Amino acid sequence: MTDAAAPPDAAAPAAPTKPARIRAMFTAIVPRYDLVNRLMTLGLDQRWRRQTVAAVAPRDGVVLDIAAGTGDLAFEAAKQGARRVLGADFCPRMIEAARRKARRLPQTATVRFLVADAMSLPFADASFDAIVNGFMLRNVADLSATFVELARVLKPGGRLACLDLTPPRGLMRHFFSLYIATVVPLLGVIFARNYAAYRYLFDSLAVHPDADRVAAMMRAAGFRQATYRVTGFGTVAIHLGVK
Ligand SMILES: C[S@@+](CC[C@H](N)C(=O)[O-])C[C@H]1O[C@@H](n2cnc3c(N)ncnc32)[C@H](O)[C@@H]1O
Repeated sequence: MTDAAAPPDAAAPAAPTKPARIRAMFTAIVPRYDLVNRLMTLGLDQRWRRQTVAAVAPRDGVVLDIAAGTGDLAFEAAKQGARRVLGADFCPRMIEAARRKARRLPQTATVRFLVADAMSLPFADASFDAIVNGFMLRNVADLSATFVELARVLKPGGRLACLDLTPPRGLMRHFFSLYIATVVPLLGVIFARNYAAYRYLFDSLAVHPDADRVAAMMRAAGFRQATYRVTGFGTVAIHLGVK
């Protein structure tokens, strides 16, 4: 007997959800992730990470680096004097890479890594003095819901700093669009053998809310203050929220 009565696509596998796609994409680029980051930001990414961590004044606090990737913000928080740092990411391969890096670096005794989803964190309310994240905002399935979850695990008065690309304004818009649409994927092909993951930067930025809109989402999620500064020739925003 044939299956003629079934809808034509009944046997077709469901399209992967955004989290599944994102996790698979980052899993594929783990080995060259740091190298391509340095190259495509012309080495500026570590300076932005230092500024992001400094914005939450981590000294003596308990800090969460969410969507930690290979852990650079977590290591920076330890360097800037945090008492305890947790780095969490929903991509197990990234967490393995972060743990390997921690074994090679000084000043990482206070840093631990775990696999966890930013949208459903395995922590009690008011667990952290500060939360940082780098290049996460474009990747989560629901940014507003993520801000609500981050606010939940922050102590009252706690600080959240988010570093990510932001849609540039003015003349820079054309130059930067060209750069991330062409040069960045080319670097991805040459150094990570992956066009799609680096083309995704352009695609995700095209639908990413501008910095004012992100700040409004933070306020709606319960941050009593939400400000930002733009750097990287207008292409990067560092958002700061105070709960
Ligand atoms: C572009 S990388 C940034 C890594 C690191 N923060 C940095 O500054 O280089 C984005 C990371 O976000 C993680 N990610 C995306 N969505 C996530 C989620 N819902 N929960 C936890 N991690 C997530 C990805 O697995 C990936 O490691």
